[in-house]
Amino acid sequence: AGKHIAFAGPVIHSLPNTDLEILPLALLVINPAGVITTFIKSISRSDLTLALPIVDPETTTLHLLAPDQFLIPGFVDTHNHAPQWAQRGLGQGMQILDWLSALTFPNEAKFADPAYAKTIYARCVDGLLRQGITTASYYGSAHGAATRVLADLCLAKGQRAFVGKCNMNRNAPGYYCDASVEESLQVTEECIAHIRGIDPDGRLVKHVLTPRFAISCDDELLKGLGEIAKRNDDLPIQTHFNEAEQEMEATKGLFPGFENEVDLYESFGLLGRRSILAHCCYMSGYEMERIKQLGCGVAHCPVSNMTVGGGFMAAPVRAFMKAGIKVGLGTDSGGGFSSSILDAMRQAMIASYAREVASKGEDKGLSIAEVFYLATLGGAEVCCLEDKIGNFAVGKEFDAVLVGTRGEHEGVMTMVEEGDRLETVFEKFVMTGDDRNMVQVYVQGRLVKGS
Ligand code: GUN
Ligand code: ZN
Repeated sequence: AGKHIAFAGPVIHSLPNTDLEILPLALLVINPAGVITTFIKSISRSDLTLALPIVDPETTTLHLLAPDQFLIPGFVDTHNHAPQWAQRGLGQGMQILDWLSALTFPNEAKFADPAYAKTIYARCVDGLLRQGITTASYYGSAHGAATRVLADLCLAKGQRAFVGKCNMNRNAPGYYCDASVEESLQVTEECIAHIRGIDPDGRLVKHVLTPRFAISCDDELLKGLGEIAKRNDDLPIQTHFNEAEQEMEATKGLFPGFENEVDLYESFGLLGRRSILAHCCYMSGYEMERIKQLGCGVAHCPVSNMTVGGGFMAAPVRAFMKAGIKVGLGTDSGGGFSSSILDAMRQAMIASYAREVASKGEDKGLSIAEVFYLATLGGAEVCCLEDKIGNFAVGKEFDAVLVGTRGEHEGVMTMVEEGDRLETVFEKFVMTGDDRNMVQVYVQGRLVKGS
């Protein structure tokens, strides 16, 4: 059994009401299983010099944060395409279906080769961890072997992850399309079994059922996935939902019996509290009401909405929050050119300001506290992981980023001045920081970046 670890210093996290809790000198203790056992929100310097009995040096390694450092919860990326890692930045400004056929399907087809998959996926998982993304919900490619490689890598590198074999059996080129419904479902079952084998309690990695979207899945496939979901009610489900007008029109053409996407996906048993719906840009009042009742979460992807998605600023994030619908952030990389949650936070703010103007003040823009909430506790709720992660509370697991705000020699860009309050330093980090500020990253108490 290893030692406990303890941190004394500034801590910033979100409360369930989206307010920030800014604690200039707190103490966190984490047990060898990675669970937070003590969280004292305010200690005095003298408590520290007296060596609190709680941090007995025999059993506990105490980290005193440097004056420029603070701890935040790890970021949750609720929507990411691992096989698009090498195509980030390409085809921005295309319409979604054109972008898929011209760039994305040919690129993802390369993951038929597990060795290629291993190379790109390793870079992807490392890249996200380096940016403080401690939890990611990944779309894999359609290939079983590559998807298993991705799950193995997340587990080995210590990233908390949902990993999904992408289901698609139509409207895709022959060289990148599931051969049949049976094959698609069988490969999915094999991936589920594999992940249950490598992480039996799903402590870190889970399979996520991943019908790419209704355009790429026929009725039989959606029905089969709904049946798998019913038999595996611990597994999350993810899909693209009301992303763009081009996509919604094509969906209507393929499923003339359905008025909207909520009714469509629900009829196949794919909507529930574990469903993660990416984009949700164009939502009728009825659809808002239904996803609220069904308990689905929204992966808001403000970067790709502006570029390849075609949703622009349409996603009604303020309305979701007011309605009590769960919302988190997705980088949607590579449709989103950036894999940084900080960028997603900033873009979510910008999109919300545009909505505020367009709605003549009705849809108030998002604050720093609110986008930080979306990136942490909000994302945890979308993944149904709010009992485990998202903020610091006794009993939760320690997924965290140790942020440093100085260190020009290491290329740190944030400009902190003497006398800046912690709140100001935090705001500067959110708006001007990047992975160079992320000195250490922990998942379940295990160091996954830094030393
Ligand atoms: N809809 C179906 N597939 C995709 C994808 O890979 N990216 C985005 N943004 N939308 C999709
Ligand atoms: Zn996507």
